[in-house]
Amino acid sequence: MNKKRILSGVQPTGDLHIGNWLGAIRNWVELQHEYDTYVCVVDLHAITVPHDPEKLRSDTLSTAALYLACGMDPKKSSIFVQSHVPAHSELCWLLNCVTPLNWMERMIQFREKALKQGDNVSLGLLDYPVLMAADILLYDADLVPVGEDQKQHLELARDIAQQRINSRFSKDKENQILKVPRPLIMKEGAKIMSLCDGTNKMSKSDPNENSRIGLLDNPEKIKKKIKKAKTDQHFGLEFGNPDRPEADNLLEIYSMISNQSREIVAKEFSDIGWGKFKPQLTEALIASLQPIQQKYNALIQDSSELNKILKEGTENAKELSRHTLKRVKQALGFLESTDF
Ligand code: TYM
Repeated sequence: MNKKRILSGVQPTGDLHIGNWLGAIRNWVELQHEYDTYVCVVDLHAITVPHDPEKLRSDTLSTAALYLACGMDPKKSSIFVQSHVPAHSELCWLLNCVTPLNWMERMIQFREKALKQGDNVSLGLLDYPVLMAADILLYDADLVPVGEDQKQHLELARDIAQQRINSRFSKDKENQILKVPRPLIMKEGAKIMSLCDGTNKMSKSDPNENSRIGLLDNPEKIKKKIKKAKTDQHFGLEFGNPDRPEADNLLEIYSMISNQSREIVAKEFSDIGWGKFKPQLTEALIASLQPIQQKYNALIQDSSELNKILKEGTENAKELSRHTLKRVKQALGFLESTDF
């Protein structure tokens, strides 16, 4: 029986943080044993907001290195850079032409990001979710492992596939042009919150660096950030108290990185104050990130191995995506050419 397929990606914008890891990459690492796995560094998405070309180049390579350092295995997964597979941009254009503009204006992340950009909002930012739909639909992905914040984008990808392509252009029900994907959002880690405010998502674009732990943060930085992390007046930590979002968030992080169940962690810290909890969280973070950082440093020092892996991943991605693009172009009525 054919394996089901997953596809996902992270934007190479700044250093990845533990939210990206716990909400997405760590799940890919588990899923790659069971699924046909494609993961890309979504560099085309990274230019939807103003960017620095040199930084984009180095962040793209370092994001790919982090995928591997976190445990992605090139023997089990195809790892590639989005812009190396031109079919992403091409399918994006085809989907653009069938997607209603008012679907795009409803996108929460667009509204939030546009608000921050003021007058400088690019057309690309509005189009961001269609490019993401193209990423997913090109690979006939069954499941898309992402954090909670991507749910609306996944719904859009499903609607485009179902309502704007399949129902309009498929000749019969048995031969649908695009596979309709489902999001895979794990219960734990789907929304890691800011260290400075437990009601806000941890984010790469937060101007306050203390709000997040970067995967490449050294022990000193981690110690400092956890020391500064927001707490509350209560003694003992607990999950699920809406008045204590910081306690819930930090306990969740601790439970995930120490690989202990929520029950065990809740019991361990119910009678312990913040002053004792924070050093334990710091130690656990340092210990869980150390092997990732070691592997990352080795990979980034000699990028030839990394480039080889990306080249192989690109070839696999090109081969698979070419069939989908062909199906869509045929269905939409494009005249066939030799390399169609
Ligand atoms: P990006 O780079 O913003 O985030 C990458 C992944 O990390 C997850 N994530 C989080 N999870 C838990 N807690 C957080 N605080 C947190 N912050 C981020 C995101 O949900 C995501 O899974 N649009 C995507 C990139 C993308 C993509 C795709 C993803 C482009 N094409 C195709 C899947 C499939 C994004 O925002 O990435």
